[in-house]
Amino acid sequence: MDVTIRQGIFDHAKKWVYEAGNTIRKQMQESFQVDTKSNPNDLVTEIDRSTERFFIERIRREFPAHHIVSEEGYGDNVTDAEGTIWIIDPIDGTMNFVHQKRNFAISIGIYQDGVGEIALIYNVMDDVLYTALKGEGAFRNEEPLQQLSNEVSIETSIIAMNSSLACENDRINEKKIQQLIRDSRGTRSYGSAALEFAFVAEGIVDAYLTIRLSPWDFAAGLILVREVGGVTIQSNGEPVDMLHNNTILTSNQEIQSDLLERYIDLK
Ligand code: IPD
Ligand code: CA
Ligand code: CA
Repeated sequence: MDVTIRQGIFDHAKKWVYEAGNTIRKQMQESFQVDTKSNPNDLVTEIDRSTERFFIERIRREFPAHHIVSEEGYGDNVTDAEGTIWIIDPIDGTMNFVHQKRNFAISIGIYQDGVGEIALIYNVMDDVLYTALKGEGAFRNEEPLQQLSNEVSIETSIIAMNSSLACENDRINEKKIQQLIRDSRGTRSYGSAALEFAFVAEGIVDAYLTIRLSPWDFAAGLILVREVGGVTIQSNGEPVDMLHNNTILTSNQEIQSDLLERYIDLK
């Protein structure tokens, strides 16, 4: 993507993210409707929906040729990676949003012909914006993030994982995961995939492992982690498929090989 065009898209996206964050902070002072989707724990609120519509209206007005993949269904039916695609999660961590009123993020990844060009992950309540542009590194509130070190071992690592992994013994090798929990320095589960990616990019956790994520959960995070030298693949070792659900492992290179060889064995 041409760098001037990309900068223009990024500037708009950044302005809209801050605007949406302000609106969310105001709207959550009032009571709002909470519904369930695929199961009683799969929550969605009217604020998830209105935030998604906010982005879509603006993208369609400013960039009518761009395509949109988004969680709440107001985007396009995108079947291939051609062109410019915005992949949007208006609120990642809706359960945290509803129960904790914190620890949730707006996540936007922008891809050109399948290549990640722009990432924004906004931790709304902490007012922390993570950004990345392809080839230009990643930033936390405009401060550059360091490249990830490969001098880390499992024994000195904190591994973020979705704790529902523990209930997936038809798909995971639970003995190996238990061993990982014993061998690593500690594990964490934050309840927002986008923030977990951002924390890997920031180097405050060393890996994030899960077996079920949608494109809007990881589209921005993947770019952010790549820009600090990290790698994202499926937890079964396959390359990530940008348009479908994936198992996900994101970390620095060194830990990735170790995790795949010694601890992760998906059925
Ligand atoms: C969820 C969060 C959560 C992850 C789930 C996602 P949502 O996104 O990222 O951490 O474990 O798989 O669906 O529904 O809050 O946008
Ligand atoms: Ca999500
Ligand atoms: Ca969401």
